[in-house]
Amino acid sequence: MPICVIVICNVQINKQDIITRKIDKSKDIPLIKEISVKCFPDEDAFEIVNALFDIEHFYVAEFVKEKKVVGYIAFGIYSIRTSHIMILAVHPDYQQNGIGSILLSMVTDIAEKLPITKIRLEVRTTNIPAIKFYEKYNFDIITKLESYYDDASNAYLMTRDTRKETKEKD
Ligand SMILES: CC(C)(COP(=O)(O)OP(=O)(O)OC[C@H]1O[C@@H](n2cnc3c(N)ncnc32)[C@H](O)[C@@H]1OP(=O)(O)O)[C@@H](O)C(=O)NCCC(=O)NCCS
Repeated sequence: MPICVIVICNVQINKQDIITRKIDKSKDIPLIKEISVKCFPDEDAFEIVNALFDIEHFYVAEFVKEKKVVGYIAFGIYSIRTSHIMILAVHPDYQQNGIGSILLSMVTDIAEKLPITKIRLEVRTTNIPAIKFYEKYNFDIITKLESYYDDASNAYLMTRDTRKETKEKD
């Protein structure tokens, strides 16, 4: 009789077990590097993240029970009205637990306090999970950016009007 073995790799976690905080460069870099390599295997993502460590808005999500960084977000505020998400990633073992949503809310929370009316980002046109994620939070595809990445692949420019409701789409 065939035996069916199901291996579940992903960790189930409660949102209360996640805290967000500013990056602490003295201890967070190895895990950020690990997440980057796993999430963006086709790019030199750590190189990209490395260039962002000193920006004002670089936050990590920490799984408190394991004292482990499991995700991060970096974004900038470039004009009085626009914020730009440069990178957002959640460790693959911890995805689909609401951590990306918690990190994204850091941008929206700050946007609400400032006169920011638009949040923008670029995402690979092939990155369907991320596109679905952003669409859930009212980001719209505005245009396709041909050969946007170093490997000549395309991106979508997505933006969110922060004056829209922050509630999830039905
Ligand atoms: C995109 C990403 C940050 C989402 O993080 P996450 O913690 O898994 O997201 P959440 O658990 O908060 O998901 C919220 C919603 O996003 C959507 N979503 C998330 N992952 C999805 C997937 N794999 N497929 C389809 N929809 C998905 C769902 O609508 C989900 O809501 P639900 O749980 O009610 O179904 C994560 O998939 C990731 O790190 N990907 C690799 C890096 C990347 O592509 N970053 C974005 C480009 S900069």
